[in-house]
Amino acid sequence: MNIIFLGPPGAGKGTQAQRVCDELKIPQISTGDILRRAIKEETPVGLKAKAYVESGKLVPDEILVEIIKDRLAQDDCKPGYILDGFPRTVPQAEALEKIAKIDVVVEIAVADEALVKRLSGRRVCLNCGATYHVSTLGGKTTCDKCGEELIQRKDDNPETVQNRLNVYHSQTAPLISFYQERGLLKTFDGMQDIDVVYQSIMDALRKAE
Ligand code: AP5
Ligand code: MG
Ligand code: ZN
Repeated sequence: MNIIFLGPPGAGKGTQAQRVCDELKIPQISTGDILRRAIKEETPVGLKAKAYVESGKLVPDEILVEIIKDRLAQDDCKPGYILDGFPRTVPQAEALEKIAKIDVVVEIAVADEALVKRLSGRRVCLNCGATYHVSTLGGKTTCDKCGEELIQRKDDNPETVQNRLNVYHSQTAPLISFYQERGLLKTFDGMQDIDVVYQSIMDALRKAE
């Protein structure tokens, strides 16, 4: 199954996508993770993307469409995949329609007030992409999955989070009606507990299979 995860920054796209991908044994394609890795490694894409990502602006569509085209052409995508963080604009969604057939769009809905709190306490592993929150880490500073040091993302400060929310509402939220019109949208209440959200997403995906 080819799945898109859609939702505001901090909605839980990465958290849920990782679990669903482990369960369905399909790759999680997070454009944010791909860009952060490219920035860390100072690749040509990374150098172009750095200022956008760190200030919470969207990286230009052409760059993202190229990344996705290359990634979806790889063999591990054949059984299906989850796109986490792509598409983020209507032109990206239109470009995707030309290269892939999407089966379902999972929208995770969360109120803006909760997002700021979630993102300010988030810690991530740049090595494997695992995501944590300080409230459940109990003081631990390394990744449970791979042992790497956890970091706070540069774009998780309150001012940049506000920029990202504005960008989401103006540029990404129009995708909700875009996919509703195509009969692909399923909306989940992302304000619930992580396990509860996971169960409802899995139930819906199993029915859609
Ligand atoms: P990206 O990395 O995609 O960031 P984002 O969309 O802002 O989303 P986040 O990763 O911040 O949130 P998430 O929904 O994954 O939440 P998470 O699971 O971590 O993009 C970063 C940047 O890259 C963009 O700003 C842009 O510059 C660029 N970019 C990427 N894709 C692009 C594209 N297609 N086009 C152009 N530019 C692009 O959870 C957040 C926290 O909440 C965690 O601490 C977690 O533990 C906690 N949490 C999760 N679920 C729950 C719950 N149910 N209850 C309580 N806490 C929870
Ligand atoms: Mg994420
Ligand atoms: Zn890790």
